[in-house]
Amino acid sequence: MVSTLASTNTDSSFRYLEPNGSTSPNQRILPLSARVNGQDHLEVGGCDITDLVGEFGSPLYILDELTLRTACQQYRQAFAQYYPGESLVIYASKAWNCLAVCAIATQEGLAIDVVSGGELLTALQAGARPENIYFHGNNKSRAELQRGLEAGCRIVVDNWHELKLLGTLATQETPATILLRLTPGIECHTHEYIKTGHIDSKFGFDPDQLDAVFAYVAQQSALTCIGLHAHIGSQIFELQPHQDLAGVLVRWMETAKRYGLPISELDVGGGLGIRYTEADDPPSITEWAQVVCEHMVKACELVDVPLPRLICEPGRSLIGSACVTVYTVGSQKTVPGLRTYVAIDGGMSDNPRPITYQSVYRVLVANKMSAPLSETVTLAGKHCESGDVVIHDAQLPSLDSGDIVAIPATGAYNYSMASNYNRVPRPAAILVKSGQAAVIVERETDADLMRYDRLPQYLQI
Ligand code: LLP
Repeated sequence: MVSTLASTNTDSSFRYLEPNGSTSPNQRILPLSARVNGQDHLEVGGCDITDLVGEFGSPLYILDELTLRTACQQYRQAFAQYYPGESLVIYASKAWNCLAVCAIATQEGLAIDVVSGGELLTALQAGARPENIYFHGNNKSRAELQRGLEAGCRIVVDNWHELKLLGTLATQETPATILLRLTPGIECHTHEYIKTGHIDSKFGFDPDQLDAVFAYVAQQSALTCIGLHAHIGSQIFELQPHQDLAGVLVRWMETAKRYGLPISELDVGGGLGIRYTEADDPPSITEWAQVVCEHMVKACELVDVPLPRLICEPGRSLIGSACVTVYTVGSQKTVPGLRTYVAIDGGMSDNPRPITYQSVYRVLVANKMSAPLSETVTLAGKHCESGDVVIHDAQLPSLDSGDIVAIPATGAYNYSMASNYNRVPRPAAILVKSGQAAVIVERETDADLMRYDRLPQYLQI
């Protein structure tokens, strides 16, 4: 028998999952397709997770195509419904940049935000049209800018250095279509490292500089400035910052137009949070989009200007809950009277978020989903670092070596921030849908680990 998680027993590992039955992927901890099958195993995309580990190895990133596509569709539908003007949803691919993910976002009608030559290359190879690629970054190199210009993508100019560099690189043959990134001076409540909209931010032009920037851009015949951009931060649950941002952007648009800039696009960035644990309560994709759209309309009405093309660029809320990362349990250590450490075969190299941002995750035991939660343990990674703990005080059934644990909500900034710390190969990633699984990123091999090492002659023993 296959049952949905929302309707299954509450005394098992499911107790915290999906109590409100939301269909907005960012309000769910698990992928939309998650089920428990007759073997008491977790299934995603119609695939039994223990079978996937048997076939593709462990650790493994398992990406649910349905969840990702649904999130893309919800963003697009909400903007179409609540914004009377033209709109565009951009996938902030830094959340997970690889060919398959960029291809899905593109198929769903999203544009792609890239922040490096490497992300740009991937988006292009995935089939994104250059005019649908927005090239961000606070220190793009000359070579990266050149690449962006030659590809014909939109360049989101972050600072004076880049603006002047672009002025020297853009020509009549390779003109630059640009947006300007501005620091809106809007605070939000999130981790210090992922705030970007406050004045003391490394990103964007300071508001004091705007007149000078607009005047400069107006003089550059090879630069066409079509839009303004701001991004407030990430993993945000409040709606107020984006309500305020609309007014700020519209005021700046009016100033830019006075300098003759043909501004037709306003980009409000991304930032909508997701539910990692029961304690997280983000607005749904539709609620967020409605607020963004309605406040942009109001801000334009207030000063009686035509509606710009409205752009948003979410990352986390598109892909975060689409992935579960699965690991195999290995060693255990009990420190009497203190705690039990249960070690898994991955950790900070495939998920650096707990050690970087003190992020909190939930865990399920994929091969015994209804086992009673009898233990409180520390789920530790395998890396030589005491801080490499994936979850503190996890409530779990009694675990044995070989059990498969699944950490949900690991689609955003996990694969993309993974490393080879301790020379651990990065896991494979697979895409699951309707009982089918396809590799989208191969597991790294020993040869991959050694491929850039060179041993100078005089060191050879
Ligand atoms: N646009 C810009 C200009 C950004 O800098 C970002 C994220 C986004 C859009 C997408 O934001 P989202 O919708 O994903 O919140 N590594 C951190 C998150 C860093 C976010 C960087 N910028 C983490 O793991 O939490």
